Amino acid sequence: MNYKKRSLDPTAIPTRDFHQYLLGSVAPRPIAFVSTLDEEGRANLAPYSFFNVFSSNPPIAVFSSNRRVSNNTTKDTLHNIQVSKQAVINVVDYSIVKQMAIASVEFPSDVSEFSKSGLTMEKGEVVDAPMVLESPASMECTVDDIITLGEHGGAGHLIICTIHRLHVRESAIDETGRIDPHAMDLMGRMGRAYYVRASGQNVFPIVQAVTKICIGFDQLPEPVRTSDALTGNELASLAGQYEIPDAEKIQEVLRGYAAQDNSVDKQISLIKRLIQEQKEADALALAFSLK
Ligand SMILES: Cc1cc2nc3c(=O)[nH]c(=O)nc-3n(C[C@H](O)[C@H](O)[C@H](O)COP(=O)(O)O)c2cc1C
Repeated sequence: MNYKKRSLDPTAIPTRDFHQYLLGSVAPRPIAFVSTLDEEGRANLAPYSFFNVFSSNPPIAVFSSNRRVSNNTTKDTLHNIQVSKQAVINVVDYSIVKQMAIASVEFPSDVSEFSKSGLTMEKGEVVDAPMVLESPASMECTVDDIITLGEHGGAGHLIICTIHRLHVRESAIDETGRIDPHAMDLMGRMGRAYYVRASGQNVFPIVQAVTKICIGFDQLPEPVRTSDALTGNELASLAGQYEIPDAEKIQEVLRGYAAQDNSVDKQISLIKRLIQEQKEADALALAFSLK
């Protein structure tokens, strides 16, 4: 791996270019598919990927509507929210991602992106702005604050929302009452025109209890910690375990893999294989046999 980095000073390169470097670096981003109503009650729908939730109690979502870099104008979503102080944030799954892209087109303000994108309005319980029926989760929000971050093209307006209802598609909730990430099939925005689909083997658990103290890299036996054959993630599956194996466990594993007479290199390839086969406890015992 070549770790050399390109250093970018936002004041020294055009905003357009810095914006692209930012989008490519802070990715994938979740997509807020925001519906609002204008003063005449016409629905507006647009995607915003400068978005996240920042608090659960109270439940707060924030997204940013930026001044266009090309002509420093602001967007319909912002105008509508300044007046109505409400919005629905819908999330975007794979099944509607191309419809979402159509809704991002800069149609005139009096044109509803619902009609253009072929998506369906659904009435919520709390706010007047419509939800997107086809979205797997919709949040009905009121807007608490709009923070203006600058006056030039590219400047954001942080739109801080309290979530009053979260509507989640029933079929995405499993028998334990929790959301199945595979069933959500959510999309993320990358840099340039790239997206990522959260599905298949790209959606996987990493179980690391935050309240249980783990071993850490510094405690791994030196030949293992400094080995070029093991990646950072492979070493982390050893260092992330909670107990250093005792002599008995080490002997048992050495016997099991008939690994007593092997060289350090051979032991390390065996450790690597065991990690890849998800036999992490055995790999850790072998690692500590090299201490
Ligand atoms: C996936 C995606 C994410 C976007 N994220 C943002 C964003 O975070 N902030 C922003 O100002 N524009 C963002 N845009 C561009 C707006 O969606 C676009 O300017 C849109 O026309 C605004 O619509 P409106 O004027 O109806 O609000 C994004 C576009 C796409 C396709």
